[in-house]
Amino acid sequence: MKILILGINGFIGNSLAARVLKDTNWEVYGMDIRDDKLDECHGAERFRFVEGDICINREWIEYHVKKCDVVLPLVAIATPSTYVREPLRVFDLDFEANLQIVRQCVKYGKRLIFPSTSEVYGMSPDKEFDEDESTLVLGPIRKQRWIYSASKQLLDRVIWAYGFQEGLKFTLIRPFNWIGPKLDDLTLQPEKEGSSRVVTQFISSLIHGSPIQLVDGGTQKRCFTYVDDGIDCLMKIIENAEGACNGQIFNIGNPNNESTIRDLAYKLREIFLSNPASRHCSGTPEIVEVSSGTFYGQGYQDMDRRVPSIKKAQEIIGWSPQVDLDTALKRTLDYYLDMHPGIKDR
Ligand code: UGA
Repeated sequence: MKILILGINGFIGNSLAARVLKDTNWEVYGMDIRDDKLDECHGAERFRFVEGDICINREWIEYHVKKCDVVLPLVAIATPSTYVREPLRVFDLDFEANLQIVRQCVKYGKRLIFPSTSEVYGMSPDKEFDEDESTLVLGPIRKQRWIYSASKQLLDRVIWAYGFQEGLKFTLIRPFNWIGPKLDDLTLQPEKEGSSRVVTQFISSLIHGSPIQLVDGGTQKRCFTYVDDGIDCLMKIIENAEGACNGQIFNIGNPNNESTIRDLAYKLREIFLSNPASRHCSGTPEIVEVSSGTFYGQGYQDMDRRVPSIKKAQEIIGWSPQVDLDTALKRTLDYYLDMHPGIKDR
């Protein structure tokens, strides 16, 4: 099998590519604007990488959609601060650029595995979010945080419609707060605060000795999923894309790893202080509160809870996540402390 991964240097892309090369005999073709997270892949015989931009290198993409069996367009802006600051950039990349690739999959009859998002459920009141039943609830237009969710939701609907009307073979995946090594680049400048997701934002504060900031008190909850668990599920979906997974949507999350953002901050700080490498960093950072208006801007709005139902993944492909929250946080923190070149000297 030949698989095409666009955005292969991203958090999900690089992990998936490494796993495919390790565990299968599939060929991997990848494009990204950078390749600094692909050390495990470079040099492998079945790996081809080209540096490029999905908005520019359209001919390369069309040629490779034609050539490959399965297409995973993983290029997207996925950080909430960008949804608020640059909503049009989110729409252009996450919706418009990806729609062209979806259409090429339709044109050439290729299997599409597309990343939807846990954000599509928005502020749904359901205790557990169900792929086929939950209502999707977004805030008013002036809260532009929802442009990401709305763009992804519309693409979900377009992909679904191509399946319904034109026979596109597809599977939609909805990752729920995946964490792990290589999640985001650490924020090194204070003016870029909020530019990565919560776990990397907190790790950055711990390493640089700046205060950890709890947005609106940190009572909101998320379910954190370790990347290896997520990739296990995605591999099963790729293997079954033609059969049981065709036309389906899967939440990929860990309902057992629910935590408030406040508890997450205290837990991470404790794990950090117990690591000998923390002695090289600047002291014990405080944990402070900040309003969402100050941290993100007025266009931000949040959901209090976000718990996936994973019944479907359990029943159809026999997948359940294995890694608990403490282990997931420890492995993520260890990576940034021990593996990131020069971090101990900063
Ligand atoms: C994320 C992003 O939209 C995407 O990465 C993705 O589609 C999705 O959720 C997912 O991974 O499932 P969110 O969970 O809100 O959205 O993103 P984070 O930036 O990780 O924030 C989590 C929570 O921590 C939010 O309530 C935020 O307000 C809070 N936070 C964030 C803080 O309290 N302090 C910070 O420094 C950063």
